[in-house]
Amino acid sequence: MYSVPKLDDYSPAALDARMQEALSAYQSEAAEVRAVAGDPSTNIVEKTGAFKRLRDRWMARQTGLFAQINDVWLRSAPPVAIRDVGLVVNKLRAILQTRLEELQRHVNFCALAPPETLVRMEAAGIGTLDLEAVEQSRLKTDAVDITLPGIRRPLGAEHPIVRTMNDIVGVFKAMGYSVAEGPEIETDYYNFESLNFPPNHPARDMQDTIFLGGQEQKAARDRLLLRTHTSPVQIRTMEKQKPPVRVVIPGRVYRNDAPDATHSPMFHQVEGLAVDANITFCDLKGSLDHAMKSLFGSSVKTRFRPSFFPFTEPSAEVLISCIFCGGSGYQGPARCPNCKASGWIELLGAGMVDPALYGFVGYDPEKYSGFAFGMGVDRIAAMLYGVTDLQLFFNGDVRFLEQFA
Ligand code: DAH
Repeated sequence: MYSVPKLDDYSPAALDARMQEALSAYQSEAAEVRAVAGDPSTNIVEKTGAFKRLRDRWMARQTGLFAQINDVWLRSAPPVAIRDVGLVVNKLRAILQTRLEELQRHVNFCALAPPETLVRMEAAGIGTLDLEAVEQSRLKTDAVDITLPGIRRPLGAEHPIVRTMNDIVGVFKAMGYSVAEGPEIETDYYNFESLNFPPNHPARDMQDTIFLGGQEQKAARDRLLLRTHTSPVQIRTMEKQKPPVRVVIPGRVYRNDAPDATHSPMFHQVEGLAVDANITFCDLKGSLDHAMKSLFGSSVKTRFRPSFFPFTEPSAEVLISCIFCGGSGYQGPARCPNCKASGWIELLGAGMVDPALYGFVGYDPEKYSGFAFGMGVDRIAAMLYGVTDLQLFFNGDVRFLEQFA
């Protein structure tokens, strides 16, 4: 511990040596304060307390070490040396004051900085942070140069599913269809009943439905659910509009399926509806054949197989010739995995609108006929972009999505 020595040699060299002793004593005590300040495990009171003790020890008015130096060195000095001693003492005071101010800024910074910053400062060897310099360089780098060009943010890109959905919609728009949308939270009436699924009809089992809770007090037809398909928008459109109707309906739909590579509880459909005088199954075949050729290439063939949907009669399942093997079922000698060597890929449901639906919307079934179709967008997107796991579309991993930008 430093204590103030009496002077016996008043030569400038000896005076300077005494001053250096005092300064190096101060430096080593300051180093301890720095260590306390830079220690992430000490708190603000300990840090600032350590600084104040050092400052008081050296600079307290009556009792501090500097006051003692001033007193002891000057009082004992012979008249001839007083001037030299005074100069040294003044110089020492100035240096001590500067260093204490600098140390105070450092300690204050450390006292308020989060522990991680202190750890990083230590790792970077910034034990004696020159805050003045830091501030100056911050002012320099933070200065706004209004002549600089603005920051260009990277443009987002269409999600592959949205893009596929838009492609499909575009094909039908080019054929004169308009676009309609409907609510994702639907009533039992629109999702099932008006589409000719009577209550408790087994056809409802084809679609594992997610029902909203707390609906028990409502009439069965008013109970809410997440729509299982876009078909309810057929009814909503016909309620609003008289024939001729040509409409495509893109949207999100929901089913109670566990997510895996080929299932998702939320997925996408594009629905279509055309109602007019004299619409026949021939129109359905021609329209879908044209649409599939527009989407997948003019060499694609379509095939219709009998099926069942409550809202169409007759109903069909539509297949396209496999776009991976050209419909041969083989890629070279290997079985085509995409169509399981059948040469065909099942793509959508379709059919002639069941006249029972016209009863629900007030159309005259003697005057009008129509067709409808519905397809899953996600599977088509997966096929077009060579994605083998549907979940990739929904996980929101930018590294995956970027590839489609
Ligand atoms: N709504 C059906 C489903 O989700 C798909 C469908 C089949 C829609 C035939 C139609 C249709 O419009 O005519 O499984």
